[in-house]
Amino acid sequence: MFDRWDTRVLFGARALCLAGFFALAGFAQQQPVAFPHNTHMKLGLACVDCHTGADVRATAGIPSVKTCMLCHAKLARGKPEVQKVIGYADKKIEIPWVRVYGFSEAAHVQFRHAPHYRAGISCATCHGDVAKGTVAERTVTHNMGTCLTCHRQRQASQDCATCHY
Ligand code: HEC
Ligand code: HEC
Ligand code: HEC
Ligand code: HEC
Ligand code: HEC
Repeated sequence: MFDRWDTRVLFGARALCLAGFFALAGFAQQQPVAFPHNTHMKLGLACVDCHTGADVRATAGIPSVKTCMLCHAKLARGKPEVQKVIGYADKKIEIPWVRVYGFSEAAHVQFRHAPHYRAGISCATCHGDVAKGTVAERTVTHNMGTCLTCHRQRQASQDCATCHY
C-alpha cells in the first residue's frame, strides 16, 4: 500500500498518465478500508470535523485512526471494514490512505484551502457531492486552466508565485 509520500512519488514518476487513466475510467482508488462518506455524513458530522485543516490551514488533512476510534471503540464493531480500522488502531499505525487529489511534484503547485474557505467556496465546488458518495473519487478536474478561470471571475491573484513555488 502507498502512503501519502509514496503516492506523490508515484504521481511524479508516472506523470499524469496514471492519474488521467483513473480520472477517465472513473475508478475509485483501491483504499485499505472502504470508508463510506455518505454513512458518516448522515450522522450529522461536518466535513471540517474530520478534515480539520480545510477551514484554517493549507492542507485539509485526513483524520487519524484515533479520530475513528472515538466512535468505533464502541460503535459498529461487528462490520468487517470496521474490523480493519480496529486492527490498525490496535497496532497503533495510521491507515495508509491512497491520495485521491493532488498534483505532480514537478508542477511545484502550492494549493491552500484556508483562503478558499474564507472566500465562501464550498467543498462541493472542487470535490463534488462527497456527502452522497461512498469511497472518495476524483469527480472534479483541477488544472491550471480550472484554477485560473475562477481566479479571473473572482478577481483573485493570477501571479505565478501565488500558485507555484
Ligand atoms: C461520529 C462517530 C463516527 C466516527 C468519528 C467514525 N465513524 Fe465510522 N461509523 C459510525 C457509525 C455509527 C457507523 C455505522 C453506520 C450504519 O451502520 O449505518 C459507521 C460505519 C463505518 C464503516 C462501515 C460501513 C459499512 O456499512 O460497512 C466503516 C468502514 C467506518 N465506519 C470507518 C470509519 C473510519 C475509517 C473512521 C475514521 C476516519 C470513522 N469510521 C469514523 C460512526 C463513526
Ligand atoms: C468521519 C470522518 C470524515 C468526514 C466527516 C468527512 N471525511 Fe472526507 N475523508 C475521510 C477519510 C478517512 C478519507 C480518506 C479515505 C478516502 O479517500 O476515501 C477522506 C477523503 C476525502 C477526500 C479525498 C482526499 C484525497 O485527495 O485523498 C475528499 C476530497 C474529502 N474526503 C472531502 C470531504 C468532504 C467535502 C466532506 C464533507 C461533505 C468530508 N470529506 C467529510 C474522512 C471524513
Ligand atoms: C478551490 C478548490 C477547493 C476547495 C473549495 C476545497 N478543496 Fe480540497 N483540495 C483541492 C485541491 C486542488 C486539492 C489537492 C491539493 C494538493 O494536493 O496540493 C485538495 C485536497 C483535499 C484533500 C486531501 C488532503 C489534504 O490534506 O489536502 C482533502 C481531504 C480535501 N481537499 C477536503 C476538502 C474539504 C473538506 C473542503 C471544504 C471545507 C475542501 N477540500 C475545499 C481543492 C479544493
Ligand atoms: C471556484 C473558484 C476558485 C477555484 C476553482 C480556485 N480558486 Fe484559488 N482562490 C479563489 C478565491 C476567491 C481566492 C481568495 C482571494 C482573496 O482572498 O482575496 C483564492 C485564493 C487562492 C490562493 C491564496 C492567494 C493569496 O493571495 O493568499 C491560492 C494560493 C490559490 N487560490 C490557489 C488556487 C489553485 C492552485 C487552484 C486550482 C487547483 C485554485 N486556487 C482554484 C477562487 C478559486
Ligand atoms: C491559480 C493558480 C495558478 C496560477 C496563477 C498559475 N498556475 Fe501554473 N499551474 C497551476 C496548476 C494547478 C498546475 C498543475 C496542473 C496539472 O497538474 O494538471 C500548473 C501547471 C503549470 C505548469 C506545468 C508544470 C508541469 O510540469 O506539469 C507550468 C509550466 C506552469 N503552471 C507555469 C505557470 C506560469 C508561468 C504562471 C504565471 C504566468 C502560472 N503557471 C500561474 C496553477 C496555477
